[in-house]
Amino acid sequence: MNILHVLFRSSVGKKVTMAVSGFILFGFVIGHLTGNLQIFSNPDKINSYAHFLESLGSALWAIRLFLLTTLVVHVWLAAQLTIENRQARKTGYRQQVTLRATLASRYMRWTGVIVFLFIVYHLLHFTVRVTHGPEAYPMTVLVDGTPVRDVHSMMILGFQEPLIAIFYLVSVGLLSWHLSHGLVSMFQSVGLKTRTWAHFLERTVWVVCILYFIGNAAIVLAAMTGQVRIQNPQAVGFACRTDCEVCGARNAEALAETGAHSEENQS
Ligand code: HEM
Repeated sequence: MNILHVLFRSSVGKKVTMAVSGFILFGFVIGHLTGNLQIFSNPDKINSYAHFLESLGSALWAIRLFLLTTLVVHVWLAAQLTIENRQARKTGYRQQVTLRATLASRYMRWTGVIVFLFIVYHLLHFTVRVTHGPEAYPMTVLVDGTPVRDVHSMMILGFQEPLIAIFYLVSVGLLSWHLSHGLVSMFQSVGLKTRTWAHFLERTVWVVCILYFIGNAAIVLAAMTGQVRIQNPQAVGFACRTDCEVCGARNAEALAETGAHSEENQS
């Protein structure tokens, strides 16, 4: 029998493919969070990391394509399995399914849809960089003089807008909730959720998901409240909410001050 037929047509195959694609996506979000946490270090760190990723060129595009395909497969199979479950319920399994469902499992479809919409916005915001004007996407130079995109400032500027920060917080919250059920299902689909350790597995998954949420929320909140600050003098005047490290001014004053700095520099 054709392997693709087994993976994409049989019910067990679909569940295993869902689990494997989910595992790959989970690996990505953990790696992504680890990379993003560098915002708490010297700006050069995250800026050189982003520059390194960009320098991968076609390899980066291959990774992007692979992740996108994985996401499409995951979403497509999720939709198919939902339809199949509905049909199964109609044929008499209603009682059993409802009893075993947790709150997170019942809302998997909705949390999945919102996370998907978030990813679309997120890519437009930080990767395609079209949701804001050019001042939200500054450049900088590394200590060794290499000109790079200032991802450190870009993130802080992005989250200084409360509505955007809240949207990110809600989305990563829903993603964490989605993962809390998805990860357990993943183990179940590949036959690794046995009775002996089911309870331990569920607890561990909860802890991982809570830590995942805290890590992401820390980035957004730190940027929003000024706990991490822009250190690029070129970018600091734009919507600087907290004390400016360069000129010491706040908000509108920061803008005026930065203007004054550049006039002084020009004269
Ligand atoms: C608070 C949470 C998050 C922050 C601060 C964040 C930050 C970023 C930044 C700064 C970039 C652009 C990197 C660059 O310009 O080089 C980026 C790209 C990206 N993010 Fe996130 N992200 C967050 C959550 C997520 C989540 C939850 C997902 C997926 C579910 C995600 C998926 C992606 C993808 C696919 C890219 C594109 C990578 C590429 O260009 O190859 N992000 N993120």
